[in-house]
Amino acid sequence: MKTNASWGGRFKEGPAEAVKAYTESESYDRSLAPQDIRASKAHARMLGRQGVISAADAETLVQGLEAVWQEIQSGAFQWKPELEDVHMNIEARLTELVGDVGKRLHTGRSRNDQVGLSFRLHVADCMDEWRRLLLRLMARIGQRAEEHRDAILPGCTHMQPAQPVSLAHHLLAYAWMLRRDVLRIEDSLKRVRVSPLGAAALAGTTYPLDPESVAAEVGFGGIYENSMDAVSDRDFVLEALFDASLCMEHLSRLCEEIIIWANPCFGFVSLSDGYATGSSIMPQKKNPDVAELMRGKTGRVYGALMGLLTVMKGMPLAYNRDLQEDKEGFLDASRTLASSLAVMEGMLAEIGFNTARMEQSLAKGFLNATEMADYLVGKGIPFREAHHVTGRAVALAEARGLPLEALSLDELKGVDERFGEDVYAVLDYRAAVRRRETPGGTGPRSVARQLETLRAFLAGREETGSAC
Ligand code: ARG
Repeated sequence: MKTNASWGGRFKEGPAEAVKAYTESESYDRSLAPQDIRASKAHARMLGRQGVISAADAETLVQGLEAVWQEIQSGAFQWKPELEDVHMNIEARLTELVGDVGKRLHTGRSRNDQVGLSFRLHVADCMDEWRRLLLRLMARIGQRAEEHRDAILPGCTHMQPAQPVSLAHHLLAYAWMLRRDVLRIEDSLKRVRVSPLGAAALAGTTYPLDPESVAAEVGFGGIYENSMDAVSDRDFVLEALFDASLCMEHLSRLCEEIIIWANPCFGFVSLSDGYATGSSIMPQKKNPDVAELMRGKTGRVYGALMGLLTVMKGMPLAYNRDLQEDKEGFLDASRTLASSLAVMEGMLAEIGFNTARMEQSLAKGFLNATEMADYLVGKGIPFREAHHVTGRAVALAEARGLPLEALSLDELKGVDERFGEDVYAVLDYRAAVRRRETPGGTGPRSVARQLETLRAFLAGREETGSAC
């Protein structure tokens, strides 16, 4: 037979060889097989309940689909690119196994609404997995923060030393980014879990279908309002890709931090051997390749988002074959995000924090200058003037190659008479951290509250989610 059996009735010739390869999606959309089978079982049962096919035929279809699934899982399934996609591969094998009853499965359904439901199920499964991995990573950050409540390091603005912060506080900043990612995924899932099945090709169908019951059976919250929107909507993929992009951006920022901290000029972290690589020419090197690669992989996830936004921008209603381009970018982005989340969790579990080195580096960069200014304000000096006086003390210390606290009281009095012996307690770096107890500040009570909030958030979410 030259033509494709499922749609070739009116064709004399089959597609040109180059066109077969150009149009097939089986090589990648076979990842949707578990979801296609789930959706088809639900469709078959609904057809039986509604009397569109007999109850016995519905049961045969469900059993047959289960047999196909067993073959796919065992690796015995023969994928055929000439059948175009995962949907037609499964249906063809079903018909081989159960005979002519298999041909009844597609009643009241088009590949347009079929692919919509299968892909929505797939995207939802992937997002469940991202969410599960995010929660694990958040727990790991919480654990590392808990271990380092007492460590302090230079906090930076403009990548310049600014004020001392606790290491726990610095790490927890990432936990809150990831919490937003979890919440964003949970919210997006409400819109992903909407079934388009029943929209058929574009206009609905004449069979007395019950799309709500299919949606309920696959665990979705509802169905489409408009059949033309249902078959051409890819907002759900775009939202998922945006969620993935933003999450990768957060991971990439953390990677950047790790890369800088691993440079011996900083020396704030030591990567474990399992998460670093050497150089083929420079024997001394221990490179943060894993973090660099993750920072780099962020680009391809953004690329998938931009790619699909561009695919969609000129799409007239309703289904157009351009829509087949929705999958490869997503599949790649999902794999990239899931593996990045898992690898980041492993890297953070093993990373060593060189807290002595962090503390030593506080003496460089006048991180206690704000404390000095605030001290002068406490002596009744207006802040702007206190800022100016402190600036002169910094200039003196810089000229002498010393931190502020190493200037003698005489030297400080030379800058301004109002300095007293009590300034030294204020200049203490740990004291500076301890004083910052405003909500969300770096003070120990604030950090303890953050850890408590994080624990409650994680405890409130079961680690659920299916593999994708
Ligand atoms: N493989 C196709 C896709 O992913 C299936 C839909 C084809 N539909 C059609 N009417 N040609 O979009």
